[in-house]
Amino acid sequence: MPARNHRQWNDVPGVLKPGEWVDSRIYSDPDIYEEELEKIFKKVWIPVCHESELPEPYDFRTSSIAREPIIVVRGTDNQIRAFLNVCPHRGMMIERRPSGSFKEAQPSGNPKHMTCMFHGWMFDMKGNCAFITRGEDGYQDRLKKENVGLRRLRCEVVFGGFVWVCLNDQVQSGVEEWAAGCFDCIREAVDTEPLEVFHYHKAIIGTNYKLWHDTNSEFYHDYMHYHNRVTGFNDEYFARKNVGFPNGHVNVNSFTVKYEEYEGFESRETLSFPGFPPNQWYMIDFFPGMNFNLRGSALRCDIVTPLGPDKVMIEFRGLGLKSDTPEERRIRIDHHNSIWGPFGRNLHEDLIGVAGQGSTMLPGSEPRRILHGRHEDEFIHDEIGMRHFYDEWGKWMDRSPSNPMEKYMAAAAE
Ligand code: FES
Ligand SMILES: [Fe+2]
Repeated sequence: MPARNHRQWNDVPGVLKPGEWVDSRIYSDPDIYEEELEKIFKKVWIPVCHESELPEPYDFRTSSIAREPIIVVRGTDNQIRAFLNVCPHRGMMIERRPSGSFKEAQPSGNPKHMTCMFHGWMFDMKGNCAFITRGEDGYQDRLKKENVGLRRLRCEVVFGGFVWVCLNDQVQSGVEEWAAGCFDCIREAVDTEPLEVFHYHKAIIGTNYKLWHDTNSEFYHDYMHYHNRVTGFNDEYFARKNVGFPNGHVNVNSFTVKYEEYEGFESRETLSFPGFPPNQWYMIDFFPGMNFNLRGSALRCDIVTPLGPDKVMIEFRGLGLKSDTPEERRIRIDHHNSIWGPFGRNLHEDLIGVAGQGSTMLPGSEPRRILHGRHEDEFIHDEIGMRHFYDEWGKWMDRSPSNPMEKYMAAAAE
């Protein structure tokens, strides 16, 4: 068949059915993007960092969810709490550093307080207002510090010490229930002893956040990853299953990676996470776009922050065991970075892939079909993971992923 004219290009290829493709406007349409922030990102649990990034009382880390600035702080009682990073006085962002400690005084405040530099209001680690500058002079008894405070957000520390925040006070379930069992495959490995972040980098990529999530949940693109082909393309690899869980989460089940098949690489068995069989590799694709990826000796977590329909910030963390000796940590970092570091054998290839997709799906680009129609009995190159994800996306958005200008209808292809 020769190349297609415009009408042929717009025809459904073969006999694929709705649900076996999505419409590219779900990646490019600015209105759909805004709706996703409101209907999904402001409603569900989002991991924002790891507890080891706030090791001491008064340590903090800032981030954002759906454009709302967030601060997480460790209190004097060792509990981690989350607040909107917004001053109740006139809406100044209270803390502008990405991370640090409130133990020492900032130029405009006192030690052990969060201080808004604009007019000097101060808050304690529980978000209570501790001081209003010239409060009685200006407000008399009409407004006292007890009447104001930071906006507290729901916050849980769960699944290996990740800090999860939800902007929705009315969220029905905690993180555990929301995960619906998708963490069971690595639960013992990440919850037996404390973990620690040893690697952090972030990338701002010109693509839609869901395209990043796709690359984490489909493995058909292992043809792009030379290292994965060398260490993985064997019978066990092709028997690897994709398993869907409620709420749009997916597991990519394990197999034994033969690292030693790749020149210069070595087995990871001696540094496997607790209870984790040697050289196994599980992945959790967590709705609406987060990823937890355990390759034996190193855990990677991707947290996406959508910045526009065609722009996403991805924060990459690498984690090991807090109990590591310096030598164990050195090896773990090497295992992590040789595949997932910015110059490793995997991650940058994925970034090139999704940036290429992003460049063809800019706002205003002509709608087209993005195919998710491979069926291979739910084995590794079956695209069931993406179909499962987009079916959940359709429910939250009340839009059909195959035709997002129509209301959601359960996809026939599952
Ligand atoms: S805006 Fe924060 S003290 Fe005024
Ligand atoms: Fe990949």
